Amino acid sequence: MTKDQASKLRDLVPDREVFPRVENSLATRRLGITSGKGGVGKSVIAVNLCLLMAKNKHSTLLIDGDVNLSGISILTDSVPKYSFLDVKRGKKLLKDVVHEYAENCSILSTGSGELDLLKSRTEFLDHLRMQFQQLDGTYDYLCIDTPTGISSLVFGELASCDEVAVIVTPDPTSVADAYAVVKIMTYFHPHIPLYLILNCVRSEDEAFETYKKFDLVTQKFLHRQIQNLGSLFYSEDVIESVKQQRPLALWEFETPFLGQLENIMNRWIESAHQGYESIVELNN
Ligand SMILES: Nc1ncnc2c1ncn2[C@@H]1O[C@H](COP(=O)(O)OP(=O)(O)OP(=O)(O)O)[C@@H](O)[C@H]1O
Ligand SMILES: [Mg+2]
Repeated sequence: MTKDQASKLRDLVPDREVFPRVENSLATRRLGITSGKGGVGKSVIAVNLCLLMAKNKHSTLLIDGDVNLSGISILTDSVPKYSFLDVKRGKKLLKDVVHEYAENCSILSTGSGELDLLKSRTEFLDHLRMQFQQLDGTYDYLCIDTPTGISSLVFGELASCDEVAVIVTPDPTSVADAYAVVKIMTYFHPHIPLYLILNCVRSEDEAFETYKKFDLVTQKFLHRQIQNLGSLFYSEDVIESVKQQRPLALWEFETPFLGQLENIMNRWIESAHQGYESIVELNN
């Protein structure tokens, strides 16, 4: 990366100190789910992934990190009574604001649309880091569904994670935004393993071509290979489940989307045993 490129990144996400890493014993694996571009399936994937891990007897916490507009509460038809902000204000203990959504699967809201939160991102991120440290070891897995976009809030949340999954669809604008996320993460947090999940693909060929395109640019310009966790096909069942505000993982019958997501989940779980394949050769 040239000095000019680095300074452009610093302008975009100004304060490197805003998001230091949160050390973790790895008793709880923390996965950030992000994309850059909006509407690509982050929240659908985060909710169903957590529910699938819960079905597999892993205790799981889903953190709704979208302080702008909570997709999670719409997808799960649940309006949390309390949020993370009640802890921040000293009104509640963390354990009292975590809401049990399904067996082994709890949700923590960060307080969607709260104006005072948006006034102070630094304070919010400091508090988030503190809560993450307190939660270490309480759950097997913790997923955070980040807001859309490329901002200090998103990268602050991702810095609190051990690993990050970037969601991308075959749409070229989604590929470009996902690339921007990888570039910024590589600059600020080169040691956080990154994964790719392809969503809304319509064929194996389309999935392969999209991954190839992505892999080509990340290897060429960032000298980095991102592990592909797998693909999720475009599915009318997903659309129906969103309409019904009931995630597919809670449906009585099997759908191909869930089988595909289960493969992705297994690949991610196994990656901890195999060692991460991301190769980083920073070129600052
Ligand atoms: N595999 C899929 N097949 C068909 N539709 C899908 C699929 N994944 C997601 N969608 C559709 O895309 C919409 C957006 O999904 P979702 O809310 O999860 O995206 P998001 O990235 O979290 O959006 P935002 O940027 O607003 O947070 C959903 O309402 C759903 O209908
Ligand atoms: Mg969302």
